[in-house]
Amino acid sequence: MEIIHTIAELRDHLAAFRHPAVVPTMGNLHAGHLALVRQAKPLGDVTVSTIFVNRLQFAPHEDFDTYPRTLDADCEQLQAAGCDVVFAPKETEMYPHPQSFKVHPPTELADILEGHFRPGFFIGVCTVVLKLLSLTQARTALFGKKDYQQLMVIRNMVKQFAMPIDIVGGETQRSDDGLALSSRNGYLSEAERAQAVQLSTTLKTVAKALRAESSLDAANINRLESHAMQTLSNAGWRPDYVAVRRQADLQMPHTGDALVVLAAARLGATRLIDNLEV
Ligand code: PAJ
Repeated sequence: MEIIHTIAELRDHLAAFRHPAVVPTMGNLHAGHLALVRQAKPLGDVTVSTIFVNRLQFAPHEDFDTYPRTLDADCEQLQAAGCDVVFAPKETEMYPHPQSFKVHPPTELADILEGHFRPGFFIGVCTVVLKLLSLTQARTALFGKKDYQQLMVIRNMVKQFAMPIDIVGGETQRSDDGLALSSRNGYLSEAERAQAVQLSTTLKTVAKALRAESSLDAANINRLESHAMQTLSNAGWRPDYVAVRRQADLQMPHTGDALVVLAAARLGATRLIDNLEV
């Protein structure tokens, strides 16, 4: 496995390949990232993982400085998963000048849910993903459904810019108790970690209730969302949202639409997100 830090070396090395399959990450890898790498293997002639903690997608009060950086351990895991190339640039390599050209995703997709609570987040994500896909000349790129809205925003970006890249979604990997794996789970205390399962349990309860509804209207969706938020609040969480949306475009659903329930909530100082397709 090659570990590459500069754009020039990356271009050199990848010139020999026709179909890079790329898994962009911010490192501190867990089984969710590694599942994407394994899924990528048969989809290209070289498997590339990028590791870059992207300052552009963090607000000033967020955890950019404390975000775990564990490159050596990440590379060991990537090698074991069959990754061929790791691209881990320094910030000065990715952003030698302030990145003043940015991708502005559309409001209806990127200013709702995560984008509402993290203004500018998807501008940062789209900008770095566009750059990483261009640098790696990706022909296939994989993103987890764990970040459901991110996957959808990126799919739409690639489509609208007519980039010749297949965007492939990977299923959310979970711990035995149901908690979605996340680099941010490492911030949880032992007591919080025991409690953290409540986020996925709440989503399961909403999904079950939705399956039992014969017809959907704004009132009964609202009732389910509020009840779920209240359940989390009562258990000591500070929920940003629990939202029932249609899978196709994350807008309000109508009867018959395929649904997804999405949630974001804070437990102590840690903000977790999760979702479940219904
Ligand atoms: P990061 O949080 O490191 O996640 C990298 C990829 O792993 C994303 O596609 C994410 O959806 C996926 N992933 C995370 N947890 C997962 C889980 N439990 N199961 C399956 N897949 C999971 O998402 C980012 O980084 C960044 O925003 C990035 C796209 C790299 C741009 O900076």
